[in-house]
Amino acid sequence: MLNWQDLLALDEGKMLWALRDFPEQIERALGLACRVPNSVQGFKNAVVLGMGGSAIAGDLLARFATVPVVTVRDYALPGWVNADTLLVAISYSGETEETLSAFREGLRRTRRAVALTTGGALAALCEEWEIPWVPVPPGFQPRAALAFLLFPLLGCFSRLGHLQGNPFAVAPLLRRLREACLPDHNENAAQTLAQALFQKVPVIYGAGITGPVAYRWKTQINENAKQPAYWAELPELCHNEIVGYELATKVFAQGIVIFLRTSFDHPRVAKRVEILKEVLSSRGLAFFEVWGEGEDALSQALWLLYFGDWVSFYLALLNGVDPTPVRPIQELKRRLKEL
Ligand code: PA5
Repeated sequence: MLNWQDLLALDEGKMLWALRDFPEQIERALGLACRVPNSVQGFKNAVVLGMGGSAIAGDLLARFATVPVVTVRDYALPGWVNADTLLVAISYSGETEETLSAFREGLRRTRRAVALTTGGALAALCEEWEIPWVPVPPGFQPRAALAFLLFPLLGCFSRLGHLQGNPFAVAPLLRRLREACLPDHNENAAQTLAQALFQKVPVIYGAGITGPVAYRWKTQINENAKQPAYWAELPELCHNEIVGYELATKVFAQGIVIFLRTSFDHPRVAKRVEILKEVLSSRGLAFFEVWGEGEDALSQALWLLYFGDWVSFYLALLNGVDPTPVRPIQELKRRLKEL
């Protein structure tokens, strides 16, 4: 019998605290939406610049915005970015070189701009160009600060009439989910799924609004649990990845698929999932389905995201690692700086 209370000693960086407070962070972050001034309005499209734990906010915003939003994880911007574009730079540290480079380029093309950061060079750049920036609280890992990187934007887009879904409904919903995921909760579905994923290679499948959520599961499992994980999106994966199952028993025996489902899945996607389940079974691959809860698509997507964060946290403990540190990322950044 596993003793989760004992395993919690591994959580030296206190990821549990950040995870536990996510619903309250969302409420605080919605209060920061007013820091994005109405003067940015009138944009025809938006580009979100960011990397890693900061960039995912752009992917999520893009799925619920009613104007085109593209996330750019690169040093350079696409050619179409112009004065009608809202430029959003997100960097938790404010020091990410790709984001700074693309932001500098963007400021030469549009003055509709805003940044979300704890400070650093990004905040300094905003001060220099007189661009508003949303102050994000320090002391988190970027991926654990998602509420502060996403909800000011959701709140602002909602205020400007550019959002599908009610961002204010999310925190109460996630508070209920938290109760079911806390370490001392019996019949804890997040712990159960983490145990099913232990010593496996998770492959997370999303579709439409759950595409970025599947990606977040993958990256959270990578960074919290320190293990490989992969993701793909329906319906696209039915046109390529499915062929790769043919040799799965030989080369991918530890693979395990997780379908992220919502009641907003396209009916043909739902049919595809049923067929895929049969294909996976016939190839000897295990799978799970996780259904989001909530009134609207935004709520269901964020329910799934938060549940995945819990699963990755428990998987870290099962793996015997502290969820917080991401030494390989820091080491790579340090080496690049030295060049
Ligand atoms: O999770 C992480 O620590 C990384 O993915 C970072 O978010 C990424 O390296 C970008 O850094 P920042 O979020 O500070 O811009």
